[in-house]
Amino acid sequence: MTETEELLQRISRYIDQQKEVYSLPDFDISVENEPSSPMLPDISTDSTLAAITTLSDLETYCSTLDILRTDLTDTKMVFGKGNPNADLMVIGEAPGAEEDKQGEPFVGRSGQLLTKILESINFSRDDIYIANILKHRPPDNRNPLPAERQRSLPYLLKQIELINPKLILCLGKVPTETLLETKSSLKDLRGRFHPFLDKYEVLLTYHPAYLLRDPNKKRDTWEDVQLLRKRYDELGCKP
Ligand code: URA
Ligand code: URA
Repeated sequence: MTETEELLQRISRYIDQQKEVYSLPDFDISVENEPSSPMLPDISTDSTLAAITTLSDLETYCSTLDILRTDLTDTKMVFGKGNPNADLMVIGEAPGAEEDKQGEPFVGRSGQLLTKILESINFSRDDIYIANILKHRPPDNRNPLPAERQRSLPYLLKQIELINPKLILCLGKVPTETLLETKSSLKDLRGRFHPFLDKYEVLLTYHPAYLLRDPNKKRDTWEDVQLLRKRYDELGCKP
């Protein structure tokens, strides 16, 4: 595929997704219409969001927003937790029951496994920052819907911008598909770093909940996080 064809395909995917979210009518696309970053929302469209300069202000703002909620009522927001200056951000899918109860990411069974995985490469949870694609729990632990991801993404992108990590680890399909705008399999995408927004490097691996169901994948995950640690040290990341 030529670069132009690839570009048109990305724009077309972007428009399909926008149509799904906003029910837009069909319209023609041309190369001149290229959005600077297909599919990723423009965070400057919310002027309050654009003006925020600290994580705690972002957290307060997010707590006021109904658009970050799912169709479950009375959920507690799970904003994210960890070192606000982390060089590594870990991104999961959405809070589950235990996370909803405690208001913190990855504190249930998957979270305990995540802690062990991080410890295997000499990270404590306080060294890094952990967040999710969604800040509220979806009903019945279903996957976040495309529209829910789309509504939450500007706030996560702002969170990433404020933390300004060097590396991002995506856990499982949902954060990988959402950030890297791809439908390729984890198997095909794992094992290498993917550039993200010209500033960050993304590595992905299996979700700890998936490892609990299929322990055979633990070996791959272990290899992935070794690679992550190696790159972290190579880049002189702190702590
Ligand atoms: N699974 C996730 O993806 N995120 C959490 O915070 C907990 C479980
Ligand atoms: N599917 C997922 O959603 N996550 C994984 O980690 C693997 C398969």
